[in-house]
Amino acid sequence: MKVGILTSGGDCPGLNAVIRGIGKSLFENIKNIELIGIADGYGGLIRGECRKMDKSDFTGILTLGGTILGTSRQPFKLMTVEDENSVSRLDLMKQNYKKMGLDCLLTLGGAGTHKTAALLSAEGCNVIGLPKTIDNDIWGTDVTFGFHTAVDIATECIDRLHSTAASHGRTMIVEIMGNKAGWLTLYSGLAGGADVILLPEIPFSIDKVAKAIEKRADAGKAFSIVAVAEGAMTKEESKMKKKERLEKRGGETTITNRLAKEIAEKARVETRVVVPGHIQRGGSPSAYDRVLSTEFGSFAGKLVKEEKFGVTVAMVKGEVTYNALADIAGKAKLVPDDCQEVRTAESIGICLGR
Ligand code: F6P
Repeated sequence: MKVGILTSGGDCPGLNAVIRGIGKSLFENIKNIELIGIADGYGGLIRGECRKMDKSDFTGILTLGGTILGTSRQPFKLMTVEDENSVSRLDLMKQNYKKMGLDCLLTLGGAGTHKTAALLSAEGCNVIGLPKTIDNDIWGTDVTFGFHTAVDIATECIDRLHSTAASHGRTMIVEIMGNKAGWLTLYSGLAGGADVILLPEIPFSIDKVAKAIEKRADAGKAFSIVAVAEGAMTKEESKMKKKERLEKRGGETTITNRLAKEIAEKARVETRVVVPGHIQRGGSPSAYDRVLSTEFGSFAGKLVKEEKFGVTVAMVKGEVTYNALADIAGKAKLVPDDCQEVRTAESIGICLGR
């Protein structure tokens, strides 16, 4: 049996741990297995770039950040666009799947990767997905690998801001990754003791945020921490189309700098902006993610053995299981505005700006 593996979309800690779990489980449980590593995600499948992997490729990578296969972003909307010879990227991927002699393809990736995986599956390729992303926004799984490590990193950033914020009596605005989903901001904000948490799913009022900071100052707390998701927006902005919103922001892709400026004016405090950025995706996976990645990789190996294709691995109520690719592709798991974590935050006086 010949199995292809690719990692696609933004990287995250745990990709190599999953690759290791897949390889070890396949070599352990299937005779005559051949593993093919595809370079740079769907990019390598489009170009036909791959290499045979042997057992040694799957050792010593459990703790390694990034992905040994490389990755790239290949927008889903371009997959079916035909070139001057009427050939699309989807056509090329199908051709290369055949040329490589694959019996199945394992795709490690986030929401976009899953959409393309579902398309390949619908077009007759045997595909198994694995849910990767620091955003934790894949439909049908309680958790994605990479999320918990990113929560740990973002929490450490917030932790470290407390002392400097307190020393100077400043309000620190920390921008956490997550364009559509606020899980990472919500979890790291709760874990790091943020005073304000702003999520893409809950449009906010800057006045309410400023008031919360003033209230803290009146109570003798000279410093505050605001955790703001990359994709957070004001109530007015939430009524606009993305293009209009970006135009109104005058070149700024996030609200963070404007928020810092307006808080400084309205609450009469000194503000600073901190953007940890891709640090949140770098380095070694946490112990939790190493275990989760190993479980997901090993389970994918089991699915290969059972020839269960057209599915993606998931964690549902503590059990590793799978969902049909067709059922989850194109859906996003966003933060419900009344979920447990949101209610907990508000119950202890954290301001969500609403
Ligand atoms: O999807 C993961 C993610 O890290 C988002 O949280 C973030 O908005 C985006 O990727 C950044 O993308 P890029 O790697 O292209 O800078």
